[in-house]
Amino acid sequence: MPTHQKWFEGWRLFALLSLTLLGLSLWIAGMRGFEVEDVRMVIRFTARTSLLLFCLAFAAAALALLWPNAWTRWLRRNRRYLGVSFAASHAIHAVAILAFAVMDPIGYAAATSIASYIFGGIGYAFIIALTATSFDRTAAAVGARAWRWLHLAGGYYLLFQFMVSFGKRIPDMPLYALFLIPLLAVFALRMIAMALRAQVPLRA
Ligand code: HEM
Repeated sequence: MPTHQKWFEGWRLFALLSLTLLGLSLWIAGMRGFEVEDVRMVIRFTARTSLLLFCLAFAAAALALLWPNAWTRWLRRNRRYLGVSFAASHAIHAVAILAFAVMDPIGYAAATSIASYIFGGIGYAFIIALTATSFDRTAAAVGARAWRWLHLAGGYYLLFQFMVSFGKRIPDMPLYALFLIPLLAVFALRMIAMALRAQVPLRA
């Protein structure tokens, strides 16, 4: 494999994506000198980069099954690294949330609720559990069955969390409905792939 391509595979891909996200987040935060509005922009930016990385990782296997080609094979091969990059993106989301809370406690209280702590907290618990079990050794330690259930439950929970977090902003900003399109597409792709897999043993 040519050297430049190796940067787009495995842990190097993770390093490339997470360092790029970190750099862009710092750049956005520094745009007007680390004002509250800049920090809020980082929260929104990382919510969107997380959406993209999450959708790619969670749809990878279904896409590779439905349209086998070089790109979908790359996606499936690298879904773990895209998933861990999603976690890095959400770690920046968390740091920016903390900065927002410290810099503007009144604005922060107005932007959050008990529900955002409960649902967001469960979301972060899943992100930590999914990331912790995304290494060969830890994945082997939990066992294939538990790993599958954890990653399935975590994935669908996060899909739901994205739907709610973007969806609740639609009444004020109708264009936010556009963010639901990739989420619904991922769900549909997974359902179609599941139905196809269930049919294959019957055909054989
Ligand atoms: C305790 C955990 C969390 C807290 C306290 C929190 C807090 C926030 C806050 C304050 C904002 C609004 C920023 C602003 O209006 O300036 C926001 C936006 C958002 N968050 Fe989080 N969040 C949490 C976890 C999560 C998780 C787990 C997800 C997704 C899996 C998520 C997805 C989003 C999305 C989609 C937005 C909207 C971004 C936009 O406007 O484009 N959050 N969050």
